[in-house]
Parts: sequence; structure tokens; C-alpha cells
Amino acid sequence: MDEQSVAVITGGTGDIGLAIARHLAPTHLNIFLLDLDPDKSSQSISNLPREIQEKIITVQCDVTDPSALSQAAKTILSFKGASLKTLVNNAGGTKIASLHEMSPLTWQKEISLNLNAAYFCFDAFAEAFKQSTEPCKSVINISSVNGILGTFGNPAYSTAKAGLIQFTRTIAAEYGRYGIRANVVAPGTVMTSAWKEKIESNPGVFEDLKKWYPLGRLLEVDEVAGAVAFLASEQAKGVNGVCLPVDGGLTAGMPPVARSFGTLDYEGLRASQIYARPL
Ligand SMILES: NC(=O)c1ccc[n+]([C@@H]2O[C@H](COP(=O)([O-])OP(=O)(O)OC[C@H]3O[C@@H](n4cnc5c(N)ncnc54)[C@H](O)[C@@H]3O)[C@@H](O)[C@H]2O)c1
Repeated sequence: MDEQSVAVITGGTGDIGLAIARHLAPTHLNIFLLDLDPDKSSQSISNLPREIQEKIITVQCDVTDPSALSQAAKTILSFKGASLKTLVNNAGGTKIASLHEMSPLTWQKEISLNLNAAYFCFDAFAEAFKQSTEPCKSVINISSVNGILGTFGNPAYSTAKAGLIQFTRTIAAEYGRYGIRANVVAPGTVMTSAWKEKIESNPGVFEDLKKWYPLGRLLEVDEVAGAVAFLASEQAKGVNGVCLPVDGGLTAGMPPVARSFGTLDYEGLRASQIYARPL
């Protein structure tokens, strides 16, 4: 680990953001958590092992505001000669489930948080990234299965998350020559506080969703954070421009759909029994 290596995580005091901070701690000297509400997780941070706590610095910043981001970048980069190693664009969220509920203003807000902010943040750190002498530099953008398939609603959010995948490929193609890799992690449903309102209107939402997942369960914050840590690591130094779903197989195929095609009817039968059946 380089002595000055720094990670920046937007939406860093959210549930997935904080898990990412824990997973990046062993390979970074300092972890900066940018968030609208930097105090939100002070209790969770104080419960972390002391050696991780000491690495975490929270910064109040609205990532949809380019001038706030360039101010935050200045503060971070002047910190004890910090050298940027990892940037995780994780801030995101959605409130508007369908086009019927959408308005031009809410569309702009969701695109701004879930797509524009990642570009603004990359732009604020791009020059420092180029200058950084870290041997393993990367950007990891947190998209969603919503950015891959079109069946999950939240249209502005889904459009932005799809755009984020394409934006990531652009960084990969243009900045590879500076030794900067860029990859996406696309989680399926993770039980975080982002689901609070949905749970209030449908307490059974997680139970309803499980049946669509080939693993028969939803995802955990540590599974998303583990994928981020892998992409940020030396082990992934040849991986650039990929979208890695952490979705329990959801985007590979959904069991209820497979069942409609009879694909899962053969459970327990040996191949010889299946092929012996008349077509
Ligand atoms: N939870 C899921 O099921 C799920 C699934 C797929 C993708 N994701 C993505 O994972 C990421 C993290 O989600 P989470 O579940 O941890 O949600 P969360 O609500 O716990 O965390 C999101 C964080 O972003 C911060 N934030 C919001 N607007 C901001 C702004 N303008 N500036 C700075 N910070 C801002 C919030 O304060 C919050 O701390 C998001 O990008 C989300 O879209 C989540």
C-alpha cells in the first residue's frame, strides 16, 4: 500500500457506502466519505474497529453540485499529500416509480443524482488521478440491475444507471493510457435504508422480490462491497470497462419465467430420463 493512498466514496455514509469503506480500508491509508448527510453514520463508524475508524474522514458535499465537488476535491487532495487510488461513485437513489408519477423536474433531479453527479465527481478528480503515482488506480461506478434490464420501473433512475455503464466504458477507453481503470458494479436488491418508504407501503416487498432471484435470496451490503474491493485491487489490474452484476443471477434469468417455459420442470430427473420422453 502506498503511504498516501486515498479512496473517495460518494454517498459514503449510506449503507452500501459504509460497507465499501470497510472493505477498502486494508488497502488505503485514508477513506473520504462524501455525503449530503455526513453525520448519518457516526454511530456505525464509532462501532468499527479503531484502525478502520482512524482512516475514515467524512466530508459534507452535494455531489450534484460541481462547485461543491471541486471544493471537496481541493480539501481532500491537500490532505497530507494525498494520492488518489480509488474513486467510487456510489451516491444514488430514486423516489419516482413510474412515468405516470414523473415530471420534468423529478426526471432532472434523478438523472442529476444518478448520472450527472458521477461525471461531475470524475471531472473534479480527473487531473489528480492522472498525476497520482499509485500503481493501481481505478474508478468504480455503482449502477444497478435497473441499468441492465428494463422491467424494474423507476424510469429516470434506470435510464441514469444505464448511462452510468456507458459513461464508465468511456472512462475506461480514454483514461486507460494514464493507468486508470473504470468498472461498474450493478447490484440487485440490497436490504438498505433506501428501501424504507417501499417497506412502509408494502412490508412484504423483500419476500415478494426473493422469488425472482435464482439464489432465492436478496443481496447483502458486504457482497456489493466485496466486488468493489476486488475491482479496486491488484487482482483486477487487467479488468477495465466491465459491468459486474452482484445480483444473485437475476439478470441471467428469473426462475418464474424459466418455470413458464418448463425449463425447471426436470428437477430430480436424470438426462437419460428427460431425453427418453417423447417430444
Ligand atoms: N439498495 C439497493 O437495493 C440498491 C440496488 C441497486 C443499486 N443500488 C445503488 O447503490 C448505491 C447506494 O445505495 P444504498 O442502498 O446504500 O442507499 P442509501 O440511501 O443507504 O445511500 C445513499 C447515500 O447517498 C447519499 N446522497 C444522496 N444524495 C446525495 C447528494 N446529492 N450528494 C451526496 N450524497 C448524496 C445519501 O445521503 C445516502 O447516504 C446507490 O447508487 C443505489 O442506486 C442500491
